[in-house]
Amino acid sequence: MTAKTEAKSEKDRVVIFDTTLRDGEQSPGASMTLEEKLQVAELLDEMGVDIIEAGFPIASNGDFEAVSEIAKVIKRAVVCGLARAATGDIDRAAEALAHAERRRIHTFIGTSPLHRQFQLQLDQDQVHERVISSVTRARNYTDDVEWSAMDATRTEHDFLCRVVEAAIRSGATTINIPDTVGYATPEEFRNLIVMIRERVPNADKVVFSTHCHDDLGLAVANSLAGVTGGARQIECTINGLGERAGNAALEEIVMALKVRGDVLPYFTNVEASMLMRASKLVSAVSAFPVQYNKAIVGKNAFAHESGIHQDGVLKNAQTYEIMTPESVGVKSTSLVMGKHSGRHAFREKLAELGFELGQNALEEAFKRFKDLADRKKHVFDEDIAALVEDEMAQSGEAIRLVALTVIAGTGGPQKAIVTLDVEGQHETREAVGDGPVDAMFKAIKSIAPHEATLQLYQVGAVTEESDAQAEVSVRLGEGDKIVTGRGADTDTMVASAKAYVSALNKLVTRRAKSKPEALKAG
Ligand code: KIV
Ligand code: ZN
Repeated sequence: MTAKTEAKSEKDRVVIFDTTLRDGEQSPGASMTLEEKLQVAELLDEMGVDIIEAGFPIASNGDFEAVSEIAKVIKRAVVCGLARAATGDIDRAAEALAHAERRRIHTFIGTSPLHRQFQLQLDQDQVHERVISSVTRARNYTDDVEWSAMDATRTEHDFLCRVVEAAIRSGATTINIPDTVGYATPEEFRNLIVMIRERVPNADKVVFSTHCHDDLGLAVANSLAGVTGGARQIECTINGLGERAGNAALEEIVMALKVRGDVLPYFTNVEASMLMRASKLVSAVSAFPVQYNKAIVGKNAFAHESGIHQDGVLKNAQTYEIMTPESVGVKSTSLVMGKHSGRHAFREKLAELGFELGQNALEEAFKRFKDLADRKKHVFDEDIAALVEDEMAQSGEAIRLVALTVIAGTGGPQKAIVTLDVEGQHETREAVGDGPVDAMFKAIKSIAPHEATLQLYQVGAVTEESDAQAEVSVRLGEGDKIVTGRGADTDTMVASAKAYVSALNKLVTRRAKSKPEALKAG
């Protein structure tokens, strides 16, 4: 289905600023490894996202490294680093972005009475002063500076206009108006953007941006309302990942503008047919499942169950579909290859699915594919993607699963015998537990001791049949560190052990690169 009115002129283009790797990654448990962040950044760039907020460099060495590595490889999109209104933050962001082809520093300060009084202990004049000094400092490093009024929607209008004016005068090129706590309603948010643009001198010289959180489920509606009020940048995340209830979902923004061009005559440069791939990747690396009925990318978004709906769709898909599944990259499950398929076909299939592997990783993945094809009647695209993602997650890890035997069933006691490779040394231990998973995790813990508690154990099936691969996510928490590991295998217990070991590996890495809780931004 196409919109009746199509926006074409550059003034109607909405810049897509993706903050999956910054605001999204801040959600408890969603932390990603450097490898995973690079994978996400490369996909966002390929999709046509305009700006990638890659992290908050002062927050931790891990964040600094991620921004700096992403800055080195991304050639098309602008790479952005976040900084509070403090000299050290801005200098660190500039250092992390030093190798970027195109860089942006994003500096912010809380402007609402609550933030000024309780978080900053600064009065209006002092906040105003910080806006000027932070934007001025950031401009010394780049002429692309974004300034955000944190908690803008609960800030007095006069003061908001005063600080926006100061930021523009000091050289900010993008002014972001966050609804940090997801409090606004669409009409209110639109009016806020209109009010600022009407009252602030030189407002026409900058781009206004929205950054809406989803506490009331209004993030996407508010962002779009902001655009009708004159904003031309939307900050959003894949799958709506983000603090608390999350941010505006990128896929919903892109498709709302595409499908409803008749009433929203604006456009983005994002390639919509890559939305599903991005959603799957972010869900896999963050281990945040996508709800079945999630708009655009949910498993049921294009499923028709009731007889009347099925009848209508068979006669004409438009009876119950406002966009085609293909337009967002949903393919009907396709049977790919069997045990007789060769290396060449396998490599071609990986390329089609968007994976590029080095020779060693390719060999390893091919061996696993052959093994899978021996055990499983039908091998689908989803199986291959799960297998390769699993291989990528396990490769280069300090701790690896070598062997597992589980005794389960009604007789009890349930027992597990686990062999791990810990930095080249094989060690075998056995344990009994309250069920096979408990026994297995206890055996692993006795080889690799830790204080972490299990916060999530989640099993899903990659495809539909009873011989489907299981995809398991395990979330472990140790102090303020929360990590998530994943594993895939046709044997649910093996997938579970792999997921647990993968989380342990992340925990070891995070111990060295911890991110203080106080340094999270909204
Ligand atoms: O929600 C918020 O206000 C933020 C700012 C750092 C832009 O994330
Ligand atoms: Zn935010």
